[in-house]
Amino acid sequence: MRKPIRLSLEELAPCTANVPEPPETFDWPTLFGNSNPVEMEIGFGKGWFLLNATQVNPHINYFGIEIIRKYQLYTATRLVKRKLANVKVCCADAKLVVSKAIVPGSLKAVNIFFPDPWWKKRHHKRRLFDADFVQSIPPVLMPGGWINIATDVEEYFQEITALFAEKLPSLVGEPWGEDSPDSLVDGHLTNFERKFVAQGKPIHHVRYRKPM
Ligand SMILES: C[S@@+](CC[C@H](N)C(=O)[O-])C[C@H]1O[C@@H](n2cnc3c(N)ncnc32)[C@H](O)[C@@H]1O
Repeated sequence: MRKPIRLSLEELAPCTANVPEPPETFDWPTLFGNSNPVEMEIGFGKGWFLLNATQVNPHINYFGIEIIRKYQLYTATRLVKRKLANVKVCCADAKLVVSKAIVPGSLKAVNIFFPDPWWKKRHHKRRLFDADFVQSIPPVLMPGGWINIATDVEEYFQEITALFAEKLPSLVGEPWGEDSPDSLVDGHLTNFERKFVAQGKPIHHVRYRKPM
């Protein structure tokens, strides 16, 4: 990872957030200082999507969760340097945050781009998508809210869509189509997408929308 000039935690504070102690939950209007809709990104890595989406959509608040601290700090540095006011990033396990720290019905969208595939069969239990996680997402979405998923791993994609079909049969998967996330840079959504497209890998996308 190319090192950006290091900022202190105090300097990063405008774009970072700490997970509240349960049973407290994130209070979005207090955190962002306005009542604009909130979109979440889980596993933002180097923050490519957040960096672009926040600038393309200044009237949407973006909240990122990343389990690796160095990525949280790297991305927060990039966001703070651009003085972006509509984004906060935290370092935490998204499974815990989604199930414990989000007000029900408070999110416009959840974005999950290129979740780690954990290739070896004995490591599959570390995958983000499991039955509990899948079922924890719709309750935090507002009516009409959606989940965007992208992956280059066909077998993981099949597993994810099978989980949704089994656990959430009322949600029907749809392609992103024309209203794909509008934060593409050079035609790419994230850093991983750029790499995989360069390698000629097909990308699998699906959106699940919560009924109104
Ligand atoms: C393959 S990378 C993709 C990064 C980025 N979304 C992209 O497309 O460039 C997956 C990211 O998800 C993060 N991650 C994995 N499990 C997570 C969890 N339970 N909660 C939050 N982040 C997680 C990893 O640390 C990693 O940064």
